[in-house]
Amino acid sequence: MTAKASSDGLMEEIVGLCKRRGFIFPSSEIYGGYNGFYDYGPLGVELRNNIKQTWWRDMVQRRDDIEGLDSTIIMHPDIWKASGHVDGFSDPMVDCRESKLRYRADQLFFAPVIVAGETIGYVSVVECPEQQEIAEKAAADIKRKAAKQGTLDPIVLKDYTESKPEEYDLIPSPATGKPGSLTAPREFKLMFETKVGPLADESAVAYLRPETAQGIFANYKNIVDTGRVKIPFGIAQIGKAFRNEITPRNFIFRSREFEQMEIEFFISPNADWKTLHREWIDTCIDWLVSIGLPREGITEDIHPEDKLAFYSQATTDLMFQFPHGEQELWGIACRGDYDLMQHQKHSGKSMTIFDETSKEKYVPHVIEPSLGVDRTLLAVLTAAYTIDEVPNDKGKVEQRTLLKFSPKVAPVKAAIFPLLKNKPELVERAQGLYKKLQRRWNVFYDASGAIGRRYRRQDEIGTPFGITIDFDTIEKDGTVTLRDRDTCEQRRVTEDELFQFLEEQIDG
Ligand code: GAP
Repeated sequence: MTAKASSDGLMEEIVGLCKRRGFIFPSSEIYGGYNGFYDYGPLGVELRNNIKQTWWRDMVQRRDDIEGLDSTIIMHPDIWKASGHVDGFSDPMVDCRESKLRYRADQLFFAPVIVAGETIGYVSVVECPEQQEIAEKAAADIKRKAAKQGTLDPIVLKDYTESKPEEYDLIPSPATGKPGSLTAPREFKLMFETKVGPLADESAVAYLRPETAQGIFANYKNIVDTGRVKIPFGIAQIGKAFRNEITPRNFIFRSREFEQMEIEFFISPNADWKTLHREWIDTCIDWLVSIGLPREGITEDIHPEDKLAFYSQATTDLMFQFPHGEQELWGIACRGDYDLMQHQKHSGKSMTIFDETSKEKYVPHVIEPSLGVDRTLLAVLTAAYTIDEVPNDKGKVEQRTLLKFSPKVAPVKAAIFPLLKNKPELVERAQGLYKKLQRRWNVFYDASGAIGRRYRRQDEIGTPFGITIDFDTIEKDGTVTLRDRDTCEQRRVTEDELFQFLEEQIDG
């Protein structure tokens, strides 16, 4: 029997497991933590690196049409003027003057409570899967307290950006439950500012990049001039991004310091961009499935045309069923030639390329698949977290918690156990195999405790394979026992078979 915890409890359980087993810690925890920042512990950093390495291998090294890049986090401030971030990269926010809490206006929902045609109050609720239910219950309370007779109109929630000035004083703050303390929505700049050099005036202002994409556009010309690229081709980058999010939340889902894996895929302005966009969406879905996400947990959110940024031709977000609901995991946007044209205008440098096939010169258009490393890691954890029941050493059925990581991303690939720790022949043989495996992969050696307990410890951190050295290994044929984490099935294999199997599973 396999089960997931209820979606409410699932996030808490994942956060707890991550802390307990050294995947993820709140940043600066000894000082009480720092909202929107997280640190990755010994297992977390392995998982994170494996996700990045697998993406890099599949998107860059195993493709002939994508080149890699690693640009700086702080770049010339004019880049952010050209890209539109200095003027336009902001979120609408609303403050509660009484509680001092700040909300993203598009995540704060409100509705009038109308009974028999008369508005008798307002309800408000912070975005959550149960928001409609919560608002309806609050509206029924308001009606009851007002002792108002008549039918309650359906509660139609709108986000706070749609509120009218005359409503600001009527909508209750979700923090206090009372009206009168919410401000009008205001634009809140998301880029972190810093100063570069000894001057302290405005000319020294620089920004921590809020996306890795602009580093790609800024280097596009360098790569065209020095590489062997020909249209269509992509440039990929993995790196840190920083956003002063108003409401960082849901663990590492929305944080203030995170990492992105982005590709800018340059195409001819005359290319069939709709087909290429579709191909990229499929490539991205296939990749997510290849690292262990269930296909049925991934859906597509196609942005309606009237909600697209003026330069965007189309955007599809791949959504994933996170513990806190279905949310964006990977954005795949067709951005036309907007970015390159902006940089051409602001830098005065030509962004044209000569297309060898069509013999034309043009500024290419771009398709941009943009994925967060941390969000992918949370999706991987969500998909992997499982509770099932298996028999223990004595045959008694027990509940176990396991992480069903794909071997490709699992932090520890295999654990090596001598059956008994007080038999030097077993220990020596197990140590020998451990050292050999360690040259290729991140493996773990564990000799302490009953073998069943050792298996459980590895199951909980998602180690896909257990390898036990027993008396048959040293006295008979040299074979070892290979145990599968998910099925608990065991089979005997030779050392050659073991290496071949692990290679297929981990590096495949
Ligand atoms: N260059 C396009 C761009 O940055 P975006 O939709 O703002 O687009 C792309 O971000 C991806 O980066 C998102 O789909 C998400 O996976 C990740 N991401 C964005 N903001 C994030 C945050 N505050 N915390 C964690 N991941 C984030």
